[in-house]
Amino acid sequence: MEASTAMMVLTAVLAYLLWFKFMARSLGGPRVWPLLGSLPGLIHNVNRMHDWISDNLRTSGGTYQTCIFAIPFLSRKQGLVTVTCDPKNIEHILKARFDNYPKGPNWQAVFHDLLGEGIFNSDGDTWLFQRKTAALEFTTRTLRQAMARWVSRAIKYRFCPILETAQLKAKPVDLQDLLLRITFDNICGLAFGKDPQTLSLDLPENGFALAFDRATEATLQRFILPRLIWKLKKCFGLGMEVTMSRSLEHIDDYLSDIINTRKLELASREQGGTPHDDLLSRFMKKKESYSDKFLQHVALNFILAGRDTSSVALSWFFWLVTKNPKVEEKILIEICTVLMETRGNDVSKWVDEPLVFEEVDRLIYLKAALSETLSGGCIVAPPPDGGARSPCGTENVIDTVHEVWADGQCAPKRA
Ligand code: HEM
Repeated sequence: MEASTAMMVLTAVLAYLLWFKFMARSLGGPRVWPLLGSLPGLIHNVNRMHDWISDNLRTSGGTYQTCIFAIPFLSRKQGLVTVTCDPKNIEHILKARFDNYPKGPNWQAVFHDLLGEGIFNSDGDTWLFQRKTAALEFTTRTLRQAMARWVSRAIKYRFCPILETAQLKAKPVDLQDLLLRITFDNICGLAFGKDPQTLSLDLPENGFALAFDRATEATLQRFILPRLIWKLKKCFGLGMEVTMSRSLEHIDDYLSDIINTRKLELASREQGGTPHDDLLSRFMKKKESYSDKFLQHVALNFILAGRDTSSVALSWFFWLVTKNPKVEEKILIEICTVLMETRGNDVSKWVDEPLVFEEVDRLIYLKAALSETLSGGCIVAPPPDGGARSPCGTENVIDTVHEVWADGQCAPKRA
């Protein structure tokens, strides 16, 4: 190598190292390596990613910024990532300054194949319009109907019989799987008025649910890779991108079927058929005519929003309850007290039917215990004004993030 070339290479390396040192100084969280940023740590912990992120948050006091590609220019564009579980930051991002945090082109590109321009993957007017239309689905009236139509029936005719059978046979059940099935069935009911009944005695495999899981996993994998790489993989049909396109085909077939049937039903309803008030029908009944793809994405966004979130929260809830017998006792006492008032002293009437909306609404302690479960992963500061505390004595964090939509379901406070 000529001396001048060697000098140039050396200068470039030194300039890079100087830049890297300067850039890394402002970062927290896991160790950042030249060029690869924090990717080695992420890859090493890929099977315990959530624990790894929680550990990083714990050691850095709740918020850190890291870099996934330590390459000048690219790092600014796509490499810097801020991770936080501080309730104040979450409130700032999701509520106070929501407009300052659009999803942006990278996020949208990664999710576009699965979520299109759905509520989780859009900004501005597209987001606002969906938010407003969807809010109609979250009134007390529609939620009460949905509870009676989907949740209570699933609990009575499918969830309880599975538990009873297991009890009779003295066999264990995979509660996490059951909860995932019931929340999937419920959210499909709410989103497009069809209960796929994945929760039934023989625990059937559901092609749509599997395809949805695979597509979500493949989408998340895109986040780990630079945009160019996953785009190339998509272009040449490599690795998880193959799974992705197959899963999307499956999802497309399933939802096209539902949308076509619903179109026919809505047309027949104009001639006196059954009315529908699921999310899909709400969008279809709007004056504008949306493409089938857009309608599919509306439904998929809601399935993503309501399925794993609720089932994971419930799994953690039951796990925590088993670890805290005193809390369990208080929950049971509260349920019995409410049932005594609403159904009288005859205990057999208590278990005849699942609790109705008004009964559930009166379970203040249970709600607090659920909120406590949701705040479980957060670093929680005691409330400065001595405000409401949850059963285990910590601040109820999720309430700072969520509001009650049109006096019904929870969603982040904004707009
Ligand atoms: C324990 C259960 C749940 C948790 C922890 C949870 C958490 C969250 C969080 C953190 C967000 C903000 C995400 C973001 O904007 O990037 C969000 C948004 C949202 N959630 Fe939930 N959620 C839960 C259940 C549900 C359910 C059951 C539904 C619907 C049936 C739902 C519907 C939505 C919708 C539509 C949004 C988007 C709102 C918007 O962008 O304006 N969530 N949720």
